[in-house]
Amino acid sequence: MKRMTALIASVLLGALILPAMAAEPKMTIKEVMGLHKQKLHVKFQDGTATAAETAKLLEAYEEMAKNKPPKGDDASWKTLNDALIAAVKANDKDAFKKAVACGACHGPHKP
Ligand code: HEC
Repeated sequence: MKRMTALIASVLLGALILPAMAAEPKMTIKEVMGLHKQKLHVKFQDGTATAAETAKLLEAYEEMAKNKPPKGDDASWKTLNDALIAAVKANDKDAFKKAVACGACHGPHKP
């Protein structure tokens, strides 16, 4: 319950603070991919990510969405990022597995 409260608090805080600083991404796409290298997405899928790790993942995807993709169109980039953000927010592991599919995003967007 404590973890849940912390998660909700950080999500709410993020929702308040992030739009205010919308323009400048705090993380590059490569930095967000570093979390994939650390297998944070696997922990989330397994349900072993802590509330702090989940919040970190959510923030990373929200920051990633503010970056311009090095390749591919913005509409596709937004759709893929929105799916990731929505899945983490909803704690929907099935939707997350689809959204985090490396190749589905690297194909159109990784140079
Ligand atoms: C929503 C889109 C998206 C998803 C999902 C995604 N990636 Fe990426 N990834 C990118 C983009 C875009 C780049 C290229 C970044 C650049 O060159 O600036 C990239 C680059 C990378 C890199 C190279 C980073 C570097 O420092 O050059 C690694 C490693 C990587 N992704 C791992 C993964 C793994 C593992 C997964 C699946 C678990 C994954 N990515 C899922 C968009 C995505």
